[in-house]
Amino acid sequence: MNLKIKKIALALTGAAMSLSFAACSAGTDSSTDPTRGDDSTVAADDSGYNLVPRDSNGDGLITLGFAQVGAESGWRTANTQSYKDYFVEANGFKLVFLDANQDADKQKQDVRDLIAQGVEVIDLAPVTDSGWEPILQEAKDAGIPLIVSDRQLSVSDDLYLTYFGGNMEEEGKTAVKWLQDYISANNISDPINIVHLQGTIGSTAQKGRTKALDDAAPGNGWNVVYQQTGEFTQAKGQEVMESFLQQGKDFNVIYSENDDMTYGAIDALQAAGKDPKEYIIISFDGNKSAVQMVIDGLIDVIAECDPLLGPQVGALINQAAAGQTIAKVTYSQEGFIDSTNAVEKIKTAFGS
Ligand code: AHR
Repeated sequence: MNLKIKKIALALTGAAMSLSFAACSAGTDSSTDPTRGDDSTVAADDSGYNLVPRDSNGDGLITLGFAQVGAESGWRTANTQSYKDYFVEANGFKLVFLDANQDADKQKQDVRDLIAQGVEVIDLAPVTDSGWEPILQEAKDAGIPLIVSDRQLSVSDDLYLTYFGGNMEEEGKTAVKWLQDYISANNISDPINIVHLQGTIGSTAQKGRTKALDDAAPGNGWNVVYQQTGEFTQAKGQEVMESFLQQGKDFNVIYSENDDMTYGAIDALQAAGKDPKEYIIISFDGNKSAVQMVIDGLIDVIAECDPLLGPQVGALINQAAAGQTIAKVTYSQEGFIDSTNAVEKIKTAFGS
């Protein structure tokens, strides 16, 4: 039988939760900097990487080739829009945008196409994290600096200029810590049975968020009663939740690796005549609609993931082009959204 543990008053405070912060350097607009036209080869950084973005064709702009994951989620739509808004002539850029439609093989070809087109810098938001070494080496051999954004890659760090985006495992740890604190603040002694909706298998967004739960569950005595990918989409999230519900198993927690799958899971619960408010629902991202669902009591916590990377990546490109040292890895500033701060957070939430 489902436990009505959500009826217990929420006693968590924001101070009790750990936040993950990392440097988020605010760059100056150096689009008119004359160094943008210099040779792209510079003294190697600590990893041995020696390329920086330059206006090599002398058109006064830096052409960014963006190899995007797809259009699977509200997060992705906001992420794409932040690139389209920022990488414009007025900011000293031209954007070539390629959408991989969540197809890891197509995306590898997309990056090869960007190399062949001779773009001046590549931004790769990888669908999955494997098989990239040869392509990153091709970009390096072609003298095109490559930035990894959104999802990290497990490759040698002399194959790319910098990574900017979320720390996916930390996001998972934030969610797990919230659940631990909720359980202890409310003296919950019932068994914790978790339905786990995973993102695209092999993406670091899935790997990091899954690892955090997999690492924490045994030590906390939590049971993961179902673990299935919903590929970061609402439709697939609904589909996998429906197939779980048909099994008739007990559960009281949903750990869903993005907001879109959470919307699908909530739809599935409601279609099955179940009240989402009777379950602890954990989500990731922080779309405006999801934050509203926190306010409405449908979602309990969202571990934030910042999609508005365009201007922040642009600042890093400008800094590197101006000869400044940039960090090899910079994580977005991310926390969590629950009933203690949702009313404030919705004012600046992304998307619709
Ligand atoms: O890599 C970021 C993840 O990808 C977001 O959490 C998800 O919504 C998106 O599809």
